[in-house]
Amino acid sequence: MAGLLKTVLIGAFLAFLGERLLHFNYRFSPFREIESIELPNCHLLQGIECGSEDIEILPNGLAFITSGLKYPGLHSFGPDKPGEIFLLDLNQDNPQPSSLRFIGEFDHASFSPHGLSLYTDEMDDAVYLFVVNHPQYKSTVEIFKYEEEENVLVHLKTVKHPSLYNVNDVIAVGPESFYASNDFYFTNHIMRTVELFGGLKWTNVVYYSPSEVREVATGFYFANGLAMSADKRFIYLSAVTGKEITVFEKHENFSLSAIKAVYLETHQDNLFVDPVNGDVWTGGHPNLWKLFNYNAEDPPGSEVVRIQNIHSDDPVVTTVYANNGSVLQGSSCAAVWKNKLLVGTVFHKALYCQLE
Ligand SMILES: *[C@@H]1O[C@H](CO)[C@@H](O)[C@H](O)[C@H]1NC(C)=O
Ligand SMILES: *[C@@H]1O[C@H](CO)[C@@H](O)[C@H](O)[C@H]1NC(C)=O
Repeated sequence: MAGLLKTVLIGAFLAFLGERLLHFNYRFSPFREIESIELPNCHLLQGIECGSEDIEILPNGLAFITSGLKYPGLHSFGPDKPGEIFLLDLNQDNPQPSSLRFIGEFDHASFSPHGLSLYTDEMDDAVYLFVVNHPQYKSTVEIFKYEEEENVLVHLKTVKHPSLYNVNDVIAVGPESFYASNDFYFTNHIMRTVELFGGLKWTNVVYYSPSEVREVATGFYFANGLAMSADKRFIYLSAVTGKEITVFEKHENFSLSAIKAVYLETHQDNLFVDPVNGDVWTGGHPNLWKLFNYNAEDPPGSEVVRIQNIHSDDPVVTTVYANNGSVLQGSSCAAVWKNKLLVGTVFHKALYCQLE
């Protein structure tokens, strides 16, 4: 009897998955191959070999880069190396990344940095970094203050909460508050694979402040990168497996209302907003299968996409750069400052380009 019940349950689960796949197939393309699109003035940044998963840039041209993500199912070129945050000064002609030193109570050995957000205090211009961390594959958000004089990161706080179960990215909206994209069921690699490749929408966006934590949006195909418009009125969310960017209006009480969606060709990862013109930039995965099943002979490729006029009826979507992995593997973000472009990757190197 128990055997029969098991068979029925497994059958029901497979039927459910099959139904999901039918609904899902039209956007999911984990095996796409790409034609290369080259940019003329690019080189790899020296010293970044174990990823540059997320990149954010201050208006003064200082770029911060998270490196050394360790995550179930993802390759790492430095499995025993603690994660790092690199600083790059884009004002320089030939900028070189430097690994920032940490100060304060913080276990650097287990640091596994993922999404990153910068917050500038309007009163005193102090800069704070909000970094998603996965010590022992769990999820925390670390808050650091950047001390420019000494060029160090002072650790202020570790945020943990049951609603922040498996966090991917954050966007800071106050000195201690943020939105987080989150998977509310799984951290296990096999179950995550079923979830991601089966098109299950078990991810959400959580608003966190020390006095209040609540879900503000739910039901996305792998909620990932988060960004905010320069006027702080809108939040953008990247749903990777759905190739979908949702635009939300942000209310004063921090509730979000979805107002539109933009669909891409690539499985876009993190998002970056150019504060000058509002363009949204992203690094994408043409071939998610290769990203999660790493083979050095046939590595995952990279794609950089720019979305102009995202709020208009006809956003202009342009693939600015594409490479089959021979130069850059598994791009996860793209960020611009003046005519400079940085492209980060989940576990590989980082590319610096001078645009025209
Ligand atoms: C937040 O504000 C919006 C818009 O004013 C309103 O529709 C919504 O009900 C509010 N939500 C909460 C949780 O107070
Ligand atoms: C990637 O492209 C390069 C040339 O751009 C080519 O030499 C190489 O064979 C390609 N690699 C794969 C795995 O297709």
